[in-house]
Amino acid sequence: MKSVGIVVITLVVLLVVATAVVYSGSLNIAADDPHWRTTSRLIETLRDRSISRQAKDVAVPASLDDAKSIASGAGEYAEMCTGCHLAPGMKDTEMRQGLYPKPPELAKHDVRRTSAEQFWIIKHGLKMTGMPAWGPTHKDDRIWSMVAFLRKLPGMTPAQYQTLLDSGEGGHHHDEGEEHEAETEAALASETKTAPAGHAHDDGGHAHEKTPSTTTLSAEAAQAAAVADRFQKLLAQGKTREASMLLDPSILIFEGGGAEKSRAEYASRHLKADSEFLKNANVAMISRAGNTAGDLAWIATESRLKTEGSKPLDLLSTETMVLKRTPDGWRVMHIHWSSKAKK
Ligand code: HEC
Repeated sequence: MKSVGIVVITLVVLLVVATAVVYSGSLNIAADDPHWRTTSRLIETLRDRSISRQAKDVAVPASLDDAKSIASGAGEYAEMCTGCHLAPGMKDTEMRQGLYPKPPELAKHDVRRTSAEQFWIIKHGLKMTGMPAWGPTHKDDRIWSMVAFLRKLPGMTPAQYQTLLDSGEGGHHHDEGEEHEAETEAALASETKTAPAGHAHDDGGHAHEKTPSTTTLSAEAAQAAAVADRFQKLLAQGKTREASMLLDPSILIFEGGGAEKSRAEYASRHLKADSEFLKNANVAMISRAGNTAGDLAWIATESRLKTEGSKPLDLLSTETMVLKRTPDGWRVMHIHWSSKAKK
C-alpha cells in the first residue's frame, strides 16, 4: 500500500514539474536553437517508425519507371520543392539555411525511404518540420510522378536535370513529344555530360534548324541559359506568373525601340501579348553565345520564329539577356529583343 502511495506522489511531482517547465517559457522554441542530442534521437526514431508504419498500406503503381512520369515529376519538383531541397547545380537557399530540421538535399544522398514512404511523406507532410502536406492540393498521380523523379535524382548532374526539365515542358506547342522522350531516356542513361566540345560541326549543307551553332557555354553560363530558355517555355505555355518570377523586380526590357522599366510594368503591358504570341509560334534557335563574370551572366541568342494562321510570320529574332546570380538561381536583369522579317 505504502509503495503505491510513493509511486503516485512521484508521478504527481513529475507532472507538476513538467507543467511548470512548459508554462515557465524557459524551453527555447527557436529554430536556431538545436535540440539536445537525445531529444533529436527520440524525434528521429518516432518519425522513422511512424513513417514506415503509416506507409505500410500504400500501393505502389507500376509506372514509376515511365520516362514521361519522371519528366513531369521533375517539373513539379523544380516548381515546388527546390527552395527547400535544392537541385543539381543549385546553391543553397536562404530559406533552407534557416530551417530546423534542415531539409535534406535530395540529390546528394541515396534514397533512404521506400517509394511508398516517399509518397506518404509528400502527400501528408511531416509535423513540426516545415515539410508541407501536398495531398490537399495535388492528386495522387502527380505525387507519384514526383516519387518517380526522386528515385532518379540522387547523383544526377545539372545537365541531366536540365534535359529532364526541358523534356517535361515541351510537347505542348511543338509536336516534339517523341523526340523529348528519347532525350529524357538519354539523359537518364548517360552518366556524364557529353558536350560536343571543340569540333565545330559542318553538316555539309543539310544542317537542319534544330542544330544551333552554339559556342560551348561554361557550366555556369549554361545554367543561366537554362533560365533564359525556361522563361521562354513558361511564356509559351501561358504560365505568365511563373515566367515573371524569373525576372528581377527591377528588370529593364528594351523591345523594338521601346522600354519597360520594372517587372510590374512588363506584367501590366507586354507580358500577356508576348505569351500569346509565343503560344502560337514555332521557335528554332540558330545560335547562342554567352559567358559569366562573377555574379553576372550574358546570354545572346539568335532564333527563327514562325507562326501560322491568318497572318503567318517568319521572323529572325535576336535576344540579349543579362542575368544575376541570386540565392534562388539566376534571375534576368535585362532583356533586349529585336526582330525582322526573314528574307
Ligand atoms: C518549406 C520547406 C519544404 C518544402 C517546400 C518541401 N519540403 Fe520536403 N522536407 C522538408 C523538411 C524540413 C524535411 C525533413 C524533415 C525531417 O528532417 O524529418 C523534408 C523531408 C522530405 C522528404 C523525406 C526525405 C528523406 O529522405 O527522409 C521527402 C521525400 C520530401 N521532403 C519531398 C518533398 C517534395 C517532393 C517537395 C515538393 C513537392 C518538398 N519536399 C517540399 C521541407 C520542405
